[in-house]
Amino acid sequence: MNTTTPLRRPLAPTLPTVLLATVAWAAPAAAQAERADADCLACHADLHGQTFTLPSGERLPAWVDGAGFHGSVHGDDIGCTDCHPTVGDYPHRPPTAQTARDYQVQAAEACTTCHFKHATALQDSIHYERRLNGLPEAPTCIDCHGSHAVAPAATPRRATVDRCATCHEDQVKDWQASAHGQAVLAGDPDAPVCADCHGAHGVTDPNTPTAHAASFGVCAKCHADQTVMGRHGLDHRVVGSYLKDFHGASNRIYAALGDAPAEPVASCSDCHGAHTVQSFKDLSEAERADRAAAMCQDCHEGASAGFATAWGSHTPPSERHRPLVWLIDLFYKLMIPLMVLGLIAHILMDLWRTPGHKHPEGHS
Ligand code: HEC
Ligand code: HEC
Ligand code: HEC
Ligand code: HEC
Ligand code: HEC
Ligand code: HEC
Ligand code: HEC
Ligand code: HEC
Ligand code: HEC
Repeated sequence: MNTTTPLRRPLAPTLPTVLLATVAWAAPAAAQAERADADCLACHADLHGQTFTLPSGERLPAWVDGAGFHGSVHGDDIGCTDCHPTVGDYPHRPPTAQTARDYQVQAAEACTTCHFKHATALQDSIHYERRLNGLPEAPTCIDCHGSHAVAPAATPRRATVDRCATCHEDQVKDWQASAHGQAVLAGDPDAPVCADCHGAHGVTDPNTPTAHAASFGVCAKCHADQTVMGRHGLDHRVVGSYLKDFHGASNRIYAALGDAPAEPVASCSDCHGAHTVQSFKDLSEAERADRAAAMCQDCHEGASAGFATAWGSHTPPSERHRPLVWLIDLFYKLMIPLMVLGLIAHILMDLWRTPGHKHPEGHS
């Protein structure tokens, strides 16, 4: 994990600038709230290179980028004092926070007043829990959204991944190289970004046994959807066949009970990876078999290519994939109705010939 401290240039304040600004501020001291916002910015936009010092000795910048703030989602709707209700006129009350991180966490509390729903979801997350339990770097609103230059949350879609990248670099790299990441980076609206599988605010630990047993549900959201999969030339029946198979049947029961088996039973991501999902599209039958065998070996020691081939995978057979099985299937699909029809015809012809039936020619 690589946590960056969002401190900017720690330059020393130049007293004359602050004094000048103070004089400029003295006149409109009794200004209205709206005026006050403009005045806050008038002063803070000029404080380039200025910092203020916290009791810990860390310094934070006093400068606020006016253009960034006005261009943000909040620019026209809310003012400085909506998020800084206690700072007061200049000279300000000194902040109560001891460290830079404390300062950020306290300031981020302001988001809660208007975005209650997101704050509530965050409180149920592993991020919030970890922050309360001694990992101050676990994210608050502003680590993912910023504080003054807040951008639209979900557009462009690929940018939502950058919100996680500061701290989860490895997963982001894997995802970028995966079939999902490649599709999203090429502008595909259907393939998943981090938040599609983890949520954005209510992120929970995906590695607990119960989360593992239930995790097929995350993939099923999209992979069982015929319309979405149809757009990508993929078979939506893989979810149904997984759930009927031994692994899926087992996980489905445990998930319904909110429980987990003693040892993990294969979920979608055990075989395909979660962040490393790869396509099968350009693989030959033999390459598919090799990849499948590698998937089993983590749990079924010594599993050979034959082990996976005997299983037959969970893609229903087609003229493309396991054509022999598909042909035999097709043969039965045609033969059985033909045989039933033949039988019915036979019975009807037999009835036709039974004694008592008045035949036009009067035979038997
Ligand atoms: C006269 C110039 C001036 C004006 C006007 C001004 N500030 Fe400041 N502000 C400063 C300076 C200088 C600092 C650096 C710390 C210090 O000297 O108190 C600062 C620090 C801050 C801080 C960080 C420290 C803290 O207490 O949290 C915030 C937030 C802040 N100002 C918000 C505002 C808001 C909101 C307004 C408008 C209501 C405002 N400022 C008006 C000059 C000004
Ligand atoms: C949407 C809420 C929000 C609004 C609106 C807002 N701030 Fe802030 N501000 C924050 C948060 C959160 C922090 C602490 C996080 C950080 O350090 O980026 C902060 C930090 C600061 C700081 C301390 C320096 C720093 O970056 O840590 C100053 C100074 C400041 N704000 C001034 C202003 C001024 C002036 C305005 C109005 C133009 C304003 N803020 C509007 C949320 C807001
Ligand atoms: C005074 C109320 C208020 C506060 C405080 C506030 N916001 Fe907002 N926020 C709004 C409003 C109003 C909108 C625009 C409404 C909309 O378009 O949904 C908005 C929009 C947003 C959006 C964009 C939503 C979208 O649809 O893309 C994000 C992200 C956001 N705020 C995050 C924050 C963060 C982070 C903080 C704290 C640093 C914060 N807000 C503090 C009122 C507030
Ligand atoms: C771990 C990163 C992360 C944290 C922490 C986080 N967000 Fe978000 N937020 C996102 C992502 C990613 C999206 C876009 C994806 C989505 O819409 O679900 C988003 C979407 C939003 C939206 C707009 C979408 C909507 O649901 O209307 C708002 C508003 C918002 N967040 C506010 C907040 C506030 C307020 C906090 C703190 C209480 C917060 N976020 C904490 C990552 C985060
Ligand atoms: C500011 C840093 C930061 C950001 C940004 C962040 N996370 Fe985290 N995340 C953490 C920390 C710290 C933990 C706790 C790790 C631990 O307990 O070892 C964590 C835990 C997790 C976990 C639980 C698995 C684990 O390793 O414990 C998931 C899943 C997760 N984050 C997903 C996300 C997603 C998705 C985003 C973006 C929407 C995101 N995170 C953004 C810092 C961050
Ligand atoms: C297709 C669904 C999916 C997507 C997209 C996804 N994840 Fe995951 N993630 C999972 C699953 C499932 C796990 C559980 C572990 C496993 O099966 O490998 C997981 C595990 C994690 C963990 C815990 C550590 C680990 O690797 O096991 C973190 C942190 C995490 N994801 C962050 C992210 C981030 C950041 C992104 C965006 C780049 C992301 N995830 C995208 C499904 C997904
Ligand atoms: C938000 C929807 C969504 C979610 C959630 C999702 N996927 Fe996908 N997945 C897609 C789309 C769309 C594609 C096709 C991408 C493309 O066109 O290359 C895809 C492609 C794939 C492929 C490649 C298929 C091939 O042969 O080309 C595999 C394997 C896969 N996903 C497995 C998973 C697994 C495992 C999970 C859960 C951990 C999961 N997916 C979650 C939408 C999703
Ligand atoms: C035991 C390992 C295993 C599990 C569990 C598993 N898969 Fe697969 N999956 C495979 C193999 C092997 C293939 C290779 C294609 C083939 O030969 O049928 C495949 C193929 C696929 C494909 C490509 C289908 C196509 O149209 O070409 C998708 C998508 C997919 N799986 C998604 C999933 C999802 C979603 C789950 C969970 C519901 C899942 N898989 C569970 C092993 C597994
Ligand atoms: C994450 C671990 C894991 C992976 C990966 C995995 N399996 Fe399994 N598999 C299990 C477990 C555990 C059971 C026992 C399930 C039960 O009894 O409910 C099982 C059961 C089976 C069974 C039923 C017979 C038996 O031995 O109980 C077969 C056949 C099987 N797996 C084949 C495969 C094949 C083929 C692959 C690779 C394509 C594979 N498995 C991948 C964990 C896994």
